[in-house]
Amino acid sequence: MTHAERTSVTDRTDSARTDFARIDFAALPDDFAWGVATSAYQIEGAVAEDGRGRSIWDTYSHTPGKTDSGDTGDTACDHYHRWRGDIGLMRQLGVGAYRFSIAWPRIVPNGVGPVNAKGLAFYDRLVDGLLEAGITPSATLYHWDLPQALQDRGGWPERETAEHLAAYASAVAEKLGDRVRHWATLNEPLCSAWIGHLEGRMAPGVTDLTAAVRASYHLLLGHGLATQAIRAAAPEAEVGIVNNLSTVEPATGSEADAAAARRMDGHTNRWWLDPVHGRGFPADMREVYGVDLPERAGDLETIAQPLDWLGLNYYFPAVVTGEPSGPPPFARQVRRLHVPRTGMDWEIDAGGIETLLLRLTREYAPRKIYVTENGSAYPDVVRPEGTVEDPERTAYLHEHVTACARAARKGAPLAGYFAWSLMDNFEWAYGYDKRFGLFHVDYATQRRTLKDSGRHYAELIRSHPRRTPRAA
Ligand code: FCB
Repeated sequence: MTHAERTSVTDRTDSARTDFARIDFAALPDDFAWGVATSAYQIEGAVAEDGRGRSIWDTYSHTPGKTDSGDTGDTACDHYHRWRGDIGLMRQLGVGAYRFSIAWPRIVPNGVGPVNAKGLAFYDRLVDGLLEAGITPSATLYHWDLPQALQDRGGWPERETAEHLAAYASAVAEKLGDRVRHWATLNEPLCSAWIGHLEGRMAPGVTDLTAAVRASYHLLLGHGLATQAIRAAAPEAEVGIVNNLSTVEPATGSEADAAAARRMDGHTNRWWLDPVHGRGFPADMREVYGVDLPERAGDLETIAQPLDWLGLNYYFPAVVTGEPSGPPPFARQVRRLHVPRTGMDWEIDAGGIETLLLRLTREYAPRKIYVTENGSAYPDVVRPEGTVEDPERTAYLHEHVTACARAARKGAPLAGYFAWSLMDNFEWAYGYDKRFGLFHVDYATQRRTLKDSGRHYAELIRSHPRRTPRAA
C-alpha cells in the first residue's frame, strides 16, 4: 500500500477510533495468527459438482420463505472454482492463517458409506495452495452443513449422527492431517441446536425443545468422538471447538431480570463450555429445559477430551429480561436505545470481547484461545472509482483488536484473531443482503473489491512488530 492510499483510508475513517498506538501489539505473541475466516456453504457454490451430496442448508434455503429474497448457496462466491484467486486475496491482506470449513456432504455424500475422493481432492488442493502461499490452514469440520441423508435418518437428535461425524473426521484427518495441524470440530453448536431445532430460524428448521436438547447433547458427543478420531489419524493435530459466546447483562436491577440473565448465560455460554471442560451439563439448565438427556455411561468423559485450544466467535453483547411465556431459557434480549449497532442491528460493544476472553481464561484455563470469528455487516457499495468506504467496519475491527490485545495483556492466552470474513458471502437466512467481507463481492460478476477495512487490516497486520515473517 502506498503512503497516499494509507492516508486516504485514514482520512475516511474516524482516526480517534483507529489509532494504531492504542493497540498493545507487544502483548501479542510473536507467532500470533492474523487470519480471516469463511465457511463452505457460505462461499463455495458448486453444490452439485464432483459428487457432492445435498446438505440441510440446500434443503432449507430452497424452501420458500426461509431465506431473504429466497437466496441460496447454489453459487455463492463460486469459491469452488475461484479458490486460487481467493488465496490471492489473502496474500493481498498479508494474513498468516485461514480458517475454512470442509463440506461434509462433499466427503460423505450419503452421510454413511463411501468417501468421495473428488470431494477430498478439492480440500487437498486448497491446503497445498495455502501452504505454498505461506498461509497456515485451519480446518473446521462442521459449520452447519449436515448431509441431508443424515437428517433423513433423524439428524442431530439421534446418537448415530455423532458417530458419523467421527467417521467423517477420520477420513478427512487421514487425508489432510499431514499438512493441516489446526482443527476445529464444531462451529457454534449453539446455532445448530438452539436456532436450528428450537427457534427454527436455521436449518433444519425444527421447533421442538426435546429435539433441540437431544441435538445439543449429540453435537457435544460428536465433538468428543471427532476429537479422538482426528488425534488417532493425525497425532500432531491441535484440536479445539468454536463457540459463539456473549456477555450477558440483566436489563434492569430487578431480581427477575437477574434470574433471566443467569438462564441466558447458561443457555448461551455454560451449556457449551462446562461439559467439554469435564463439569457435566449445568444442573440449573437441565432443570430449565426439563428434558432428559440421552446419556450413556462414559459419554461425559468422551465429551471432555482435553483440548489444545478454545475458539471464541464474538459479535455482540446480550442485555436480557425475563420472558415467562417464551421457550427456554424464558428470557429475551432487549433492544437498548441510543447504542451503536451494525447493519445486522447487533449492538456494538468491543469491551465484550475482552470480558469474554478474560472469563474463559479465569473459569476454564484453556491452553490457548483463538478469536475464530469477529466482524460486522454494513450495506457497502463500490464507488465509481472502485473503492469501498466502510469506516464503521474499520472502526469495529480496530476496536475489537484493541480489546483483544488488552485481554492478552491481562493474561488471556490469545494465540490468534480471525476476521469474519475474507469476503462477502451467503449470510444464512439473511441471504446475500448482509455483507461481512473485507472484500466486497459483486455476485453478478464475482468481482472482488478490497474495502477500506481490508486495507486497514493489512496495515494492522504489518504493524505487529514482533510478527514472525511469513514463509512466502
Ligand atoms: C456466525 C457464523 C458465521 C457467520 C457469522 C456472521 O454465527 O459462524 O458463519 O454467519 O456469524
